[in-house]
Amino acid sequence: MSGVIKIEHPLIEHHLCVVRDQATRPSEFRAAIARLTVLVATHATNDLPLSPVKITTPICDADCRSLSINIGLVPILRAGLGMVDPLQNLLPDAAVWHLGLYRNEETAEPVGYYDKLPNSGAPNVALVLDPMLATGGSVELVIERLQSWGVDDIRVLSVIASQTGIDRVAKDFPDVRLYVAAIDPELNDQAYIVPGLGDAGDRIFDTPQND
Ligand code: PRP
Ligand code: URA
Repeated sequence: MSGVIKIEHPLIEHHLCVVRDQATRPSEFRAAIARLTVLVATHATNDLPLSPVKITTPICDADCRSLSINIGLVPILRAGLGMVDPLQNLLPDAAVWHLGLYRNEETAEPVGYYDKLPNSGAPNVALVLDPMLATGGSVELVIERLQSWGVDDIRVLSVIASQTGIDRVAKDFPDVRLYVAAIDPELNDQAYIVPGLGDAGDRIFDTPQND
């Protein structure tokens, strides 16, 4: 499977109202991002491979199946941090590999500022976490970095993507899957998603920019 997967679910529509609403307080915003993350992650992990295991229950032996691959979570700082806790609840054994990027305000091009990936030991599957995919530049830089690390199966989990951004990433990286809760039609002249939800990082961390 490859390409763009827009997840359809009534709970997604409901919680999108919360994150889009400018009146939503940061604590409610974080909670709604976490709920949306669970809904997106449920779909993004629905074909992970399983291996048979024997479990002894209090009653008898049982044939069960458990995850058999190495999964890494890759939050893009800062906003991706808002998606880490819900993913760690679902995948408690997944390592978390942080990558720091910010967008240059003039050019909207991503600038890397934190990368401590080791030279070896790439996970089998990387789940890239960032609630916003606008131009797609940040996610593309991360995909290139993960491919150079040796990750074969890269899945991007976002809350809101722009049509422009996902078209770009799907064309440049046809083997990467993009799981999104919403696809918005356009970007404004500052490369913000319209209608979007504003600046996800600032809303998660309550750091409004007034300039
Ligand atoms: C935001 C967002 C993405 C990026 C998306 O981060 O969280 O990382 O912009 O934009 P793009 O698709 O055009 O690259 P931002 O640069 O605002 O940094 P922050 O998370 O630290 O606020
Ligand atoms: N980053 C955000 O947080 N929001 C956007 O709309 C675009 C980039």
